[in-house]
Amino acid sequence: MKPLFTLPESARETLLRRYADRIEVNPSLSRALVSYQSNRKRSNYRWFKYKEGFSASLVEYLIGRFQLVDGVVLDPFAGSGATLFVAREHGLPSVGIELLPVGIHAVRARLAAEQIDRREFAAAVAAIAAGKWKVEPDPTLSFQHLRITVGAFPDAAERGLAQFRTYLRDCISSDEVRQVLDFACFSILESISYTRKDGQYLRWDSRAPRGLPGKAFDKGPIAEFETALLARLREIMEDLDEPALFAKVSDSALPRLDILSGSCLELLPSLQAESSDALITSPPYCNRYDYTRTYALELAYLGIDEQKLKGLRQSLLSCTVENRSKVDWLHTFYAAQRSPGTLKAALQAFEGQEALQEVLAALERKASRGELNNANVPRMVRNYFLESAVAVFEWARILKPGGQVALVNDNVRYGGEEVPVDLILSDLAERAGFTTERIWTLSRGKGNSSQQMGAHGRTELRKCVYIWRR
Ligand SMILES: C[S@@+](CC[C@H](N)C(=O)[O-])C[C@H]1O[C@@H](n2cnc3c(N)ncnc32)[C@H](O)[C@@H]1O
Repeated sequence: MKPLFTLPESARETLLRRYADRIEVNPSLSRALVSYQSNRKRSNYRWFKYKEGFSASLVEYLIGRFQLVDGVVLDPFAGSGATLFVAREHGLPSVGIELLPVGIHAVRARLAAEQIDRREFAAAVAAIAAGKWKVEPDPTLSFQHLRITVGAFPDAAERGLAQFRTYLRDCISSDEVRQVLDFACFSILESISYTRKDGQYLRWDSRAPRGLPGKAFDKGPIAEFETALLARLREIMEDLDEPALFAKVSDSALPRLDILSGSCLELLPSLQAESSDALITSPPYCNRYDYTRTYALELAYLGIDEQKLKGLRQSLLSCTVENRSKVDWLHTFYAAQRSPGTLKAALQAFEGQEALQEVLAALERKASRGELNNANVPRMVRNYFLESAVAVFEWARILKPGGQVALVNDNVRYGGEEVPVDLILSDLAERAGFTTERIWTLSRGKGNSSQQMGAHGRTELRKCVYIWRR
């Protein structure tokens, strides 16, 4: 019997139906592969735990699937540079853009490590192991805390940091050796602190003198400065001694690796049209994750003060509830570039994406009824897609015809409203001139949060790698 009436299909259902035959579970992708996990034991990639990174093995897999044997690889959200370094190992030149000085520091340290005189480095590490670094600390080199990092280190660790930095300045003459030693020190900050990078913020151990309200938290052993530093230095030495690092590069000259520091919204327009052959990246997810809080220790170490921190937070691709609109800035910026066409086309695509407009309207309604746990969620979601649209239109300009894109991202849900990030971004990409070839998902997605599951029942959120072709 025919039903008396049927509800009209929602824009999200229509979009899902359009893509259904291209969404497929890819058994080659595991959670470990699309996250940093698989890097933990991998030479050179294990020096700095960039939790938001993806694994070198994933980039290798994608380069293989794309059958990339030459051409430039672009990563506009380069993080600590997995895409760039794997491309380099395969003889491919690469260009990366990264906003946070954290990733930039990691990439530059690895480049310095390639240039290092091994014997000189080994001698410096031996001197450090012998305790030569325990000099009188210069007070001007003491840790310059941000408000949210005050009290993050035990006193001995904080003194160790100042001593070590004084030693580097006064006693290490080679720039590359100093840079790698400094990076080793930078890379252990979390392990010697009372904090742990957890979810959206830094989580504080109950042993920290600054008694924070909330649940007691024990991060486990807090490493001692000297022990952690020496362990990292030994790891770096071991990796630098590996003979086959660039075995896949036939030519003795390493391919170019350019890392540009700043926002991709500002830097992409300066890249030449049709100058890249592939793009492998993972943008911030639309999940309220605040990189500037999570990496506050590392940012403070790199000399970022309160004002710069706020600037970085606002420059993030909108992914926190604090991000304000960049639309006015985008208009002024593109007008000054004399290329308002790309922005106009991206904004039109954004406004015309029905499923997105449906999500935004639903979220606004929920916010006005107080049904979201933060009233700025609709603004974040709106700006996330608006800025992503601009980035995607730039990628379409920069990639050569036939160029391939792999993008790692998670879907999200707020107040029970599913945001099909994969489908919306793929549709925006098609409006920019891409074809969506596949939306690969991991075999099991994840719920947004335990709170959401309780209130709205558990439905799986896709965790995806999208494959587009220009
Ligand atoms: C998911 S992570 C990418 C990690 C990277 N795939 C790796 O393996 O290290 C997203 C990165 O985008 C960066 N980011 C956020 N907003 C940005 C912007 N406007 N321009 C450039 N990078 C940005 C963040 O700092 C973060 O490092």
